[in-house]
Amino acid sequence: MPSRPRKAGPRVSVLRVGHRAGRDPRLTTHVALTARALGAERLYLHPPDPELAQRVRRVGEMWGGSFEVEGVDDWKRVVREFDGVVVHLTMYGQPISAVAPKLRTQSAILLVVGGAKVPSALYGLAAHNVAVGHQPHSEVAALAIALEQLRGVPGPGAWPGATHAIVPQARGKRVRKVRELA
Ligand SMILES: C[S@@+](CC[C@H](N)C(=O)[O-])C[C@H]1O[C@@H](n2cnc3c(N)ncnc32)[C@H](O)[C@@H]1O
Repeated sequence: MPSRPRKAGPRVSVLRVGHRAGRDPRLTTHVALTARALGAERLYLHPPDPELAQRVRRVGEMWGGSFEVEGVDDWKRVVREFDGVVVHLTMYGQPISAVAPKLRTQSAILLVVGGAKVPSALYGLAAHNVAVGHQPHSEVAALAIALEQLRGVPGPGAWPGATHAIVPQARGKRVRKVRELA
């Protein structure tokens, strides 16, 4: 799918509800890395997982940006107090193609993804329940497509504060050093 470069888009935060530390660290790490790489500002992680947050912080030290993982004990509070539009990604929701044009005009969005079990209260608390297709798949896939629809895919180039940046190649791998780690 061609990327959709858009200069401006809503600022996006992500809330991952129902993380099971020790059981799905890899999946939740991929939620965090996908959120970061596709332009979200932060991941609220419920419940907190400091080791995961530290791993993602190390990725940011190398590749730049200011993405952060913030552990939360009370996910409902994050949803209620978010200063923007709360969008719950669920296969039961409205098609993303119908909702995305309106969402792109917002200034701040909280994208909420669930885990193995999704608390039913979330459906009522969200301003929008939005489906990325109407078949079950993955929080990582749903998040990636939602971020692409809202903000497009970032182009190449070093991110602020990066020590390294990728030089795109037709074949092979090339990484340039941007600066030394302070
Ligand atoms: C393994 S699924 C959870 C399925 C769960 N049985 C439920 O109640 O929805 C984990 C998360 O992936 C996301 N997800 C999965 N399929 C989706 C779809 N088709 N559209 C949007 N989000 C989806 C949702 O955020 C969901 O909470």
